[in-house]
Amino acid sequence: MKSFRHRLLITLLVWIGMMLAGLFIVVHQLLPIYANAENKTEIWLVLFFAFFLALLFSAIVGSRIIEVNIKPIENATETAMELVKGNYRARASESNAQASVELSRTINVLARNLQEITAVRVMEQERLKTLIENMGSALIMIDRQGAVSLVNKPFLEEFELSTENTLGKFYKEIHVPYELEDFIENVFMTETHSRAQIEFMSGLNLKNLNVYGAPVIGEHQRWLGIVIVFHDITELKRLEQIRKDFVANVSHELRTPVTSIKGFSETLLDGAYKDTDTLLSFLEIVHTESNRLEMLINDLLDLSNVEQSGFEVKAQPTEMKAVIKRAVEMIQPKINEKSIGLKLEIKPVTVYGDANRLIQVIMNLLINAVTYSGNNTEITIRLFVKDNQAVIQVEDQGIGIESSEIGRLFERFYRVDRARSRNSGGTGLGLSIVKHLIEAHHGKVEVDSAVGVGTTFTIYLPLAS
Ligand SMILES: Nc1ncnc2c1ncn2[C@@H]1O[C@H](COP(=O)(O)OP(=O)(O)OP(=O)(O)O)[C@@H](O)[C@H]1O
Ligand SMILES: [Mg+2]
Repeated sequence: MKSFRHRLLITLLVWIGMMLAGLFIVVHQLLPIYANAENKTEIWLVLFFAFFLALLFSAIVGSRIIEVNIKPIENATETAMELVKGNYRARASESNAQASVELSRTINVLARNLQEITAVRVMEQERLKTLIENMGSALIMIDRQGAVSLVNKPFLEEFELSTENTLGKFYKEIHVPYELEDFIENVFMTETHSRAQIEFMSGLNLKNLNVYGAPVIGEHQRWLGIVIVFHDITELKRLEQIRKDFVANVSHELRTPVTSIKGFSETLLDGAYKDTDTLLSFLEIVHTESNRLEMLINDLLDLSNVEQSGFEVKAQPTEMKAVIKRAVEMIQPKINEKSIGLKLEIKPVTVYGDANRLIQVIMNLLINAVTYSGNNTEITIRLFVKDNQAVIQVEDQGIGIESSEIGRLFERFYRVDRARSRNSGGTGLGLSIVKHLIEAHHGKVEVDSAVGVGTTFTIYLPLAS
């Protein structure tokens, strides 16, 4: 830059010197001539012509100076301004003028560096954004003023919010559940790490969140706001509850027959055995109860076996018609007992499955259909192929199931009406076994029911190819 200034100054000085020298020569040479001259007009003409030449010369020299020295600077300035605007692709043209070459080059290096830094920053921002969006937890960041500065998709989805009415809003204005708002407020006020499990109603459903909150600390330990991350643990809680229910249910189911066996046998031992009639009827009760106990234990063992991860059925091409026939034979006495009509709409279908397990499935559905139907009703069994799948339907005209109960039907020990089902002698394991067995066959079960009208269980199974 220094050399450029020197050059410019020297050029100017030389030029001014030349002009002064020219002027001096002209004045020195012309003054005596002018004094003695007769035709002064001619002299004026020469003078004017000389002045015109000098002007032309200055214009050419001037424009050359501008061309060589000023233009590249202008160009560099323009480039710098483009850089300021954020256009890091702008480059200064590197002219031949020694003075400005360095300037243009420096600006271009600067531009290149800026472009690289920006590219790295954009990439890092993208990475961070992808991470925040796909971290599997909901996240919200709130700045020092309490305004939402960042929020990810899981958060918006959890509370059905949109970015527009969340970003930049005060955290109390976005209307998250009161319990979460309380938690946020606590972290915001105390500026400390905090962890909690919160529970709130979302419509008709109870939801559970595992929430974690922390202050955001920037450079020089400056407090910038807070960040809240949470996980929806509703499903985990539900499973935990099912497990708890399971233990309670097993204990309860086992206790009932055991209590009765113990009670009757104690009475017999106390002397009642002497009366043959009492002995017989008590022994019958003990027998029935131990049968029930055995059934329950078998069901439990079966279920725990089927539920084991890695459980596989011994699948092979199986005639589904024969399976249904066998299941019907086993249940026939019960069907006859209630004078229930049985309608079969069977097409020949070969599935890929384990015949014994499938008989167990159909039997379970049939027993339910008989148990939860009145006398003189009708049960229809259908077998056909649809969308390259075997479809088996067991339809009854029984009491039906409330739609709110259908979601829990396949849980272990779940019974719609405990008191009523107790009378039917069920334990609530049947459908759970059905579901696991069908899933082990890579199939699925569906229920369609209307209270007072009837219930249809539909099973989809893969065909033997
Ligand atoms: N066809 C049906 N019609 C009406 N309710 C049904 C029908 N099938 C099942 N249910 C309801 O679903 C509940 C669960 O059925 P599930 O077969 O699992 O148990 P269960 O029949 O009570 O006992 P078990 O373990 O002896 O089968 C039943 O208690 C009953 O309330
Ligand atoms: Mg059942």
